[in-house]
Amino acid sequence: MTAAPISEVDAPSQHFEVHPFDAPVGAEVVGLDISKPINTEDFARIHRAHLAHHVLVFRDQQITPQEHIDFSRRFGPLEIHVLHQFQLKNHPEILIVSNIKENGEPIGLGDAGVYWHSDISYKPNPSLGSLLHAQELPSEGGDTLFADQHLAWESLSPELQQRILPLKAEHSYLAKYEELRAKNPWRPKLSQAQIDQVAPAVQPVVRTHPETGRKALFVSEHFTTRIVDLPQDESDALLAELFAHSVKPEFVYRHKWALHDLVFWDNRSLMHLAAGTPDHLRRRLNRTTIVGGTPF
Ligand code: OGA
Ligand code: MN
Repeated sequence: MTAAPISEVDAPSQHFEVHPFDAPVGAEVVGLDISKPINTEDFARIHRAHLAHHVLVFRDQQITPQEHIDFSRRFGPLEIHVLHQFQLKNHPEILIVSNIKENGEPIGLGDAGVYWHSDISYKPNPSLGSLLHAQELPSEGGDTLFADQHLAWESLSPELQQRILPLKAEHSYLAKYEELRAKNPWRPKLSQAQIDQVAPAVQPVVRTHPETGRKALFVSEHFTTRIVDLPQDESDALLAELFAHSVKPEFVYRHKWALHDLVFWDNRSLMHLAAGTPDHLRRRLNRTTIVGGTPF
């Protein structure tokens, strides 16, 4: 028999701290090295911090793609993104998010997140959370914004809360695809097999976080196409009102990236947005996406 690796249970504690940001959401985890074993107790603290702060920032993580995948997997199974063109070689669980072109070909998804969204909300089982690891950063721009959808829900008027609580909405990966492809012709034309993988899904407009029980708004500019069972004009007006409300500055944390940051957010609690990178500057991050349960 080969010797077992140090088990996660027995690994020494890493003595890290959680420092909340001066922002509606987010905290930095200081003193944790994700390339080292994380014991069960430390893992439980990270998990609790994630539920409390919704976005955790681990600075200066010198981790390999496999270590990024292994850490992500402790929270659940990983999604393989429909744009298989942008998988990291030999690591299909990693989606390359990058505006870099090599020999005229994009190496990654260059316009990920240019509209507010929650990852994979267009599938029956959307994402629990995603982890981005910064590989190469521009000298300016490239921030990512996160908006707290619990606060968005809680700050609606009781009348509007009552009105939207029973509603469902359709989410579609294809909602903005052709519009984005017209702006960014490098976006691949989807094959029929890819289109079949992203049939629209119907989601509750207000979801309940499965671990904390808190309600959150769950509609987005990027993927939500219509409220089911409402006339088109009413649906459009209500969605416009909810989109505008859901991303008010008082719900938002703006992340300014540093090299080797690993940022782990909760897609059940937050929406996020890429603020944008000037075209002539290079930006590249690796993303893993954890599969979540069916929203309710
Ligand atoms: C993503 C995403 C935003 C960014 O990778 O899911 O939306 O700032 N990225 O790159
Ligand atoms: Mn995203």
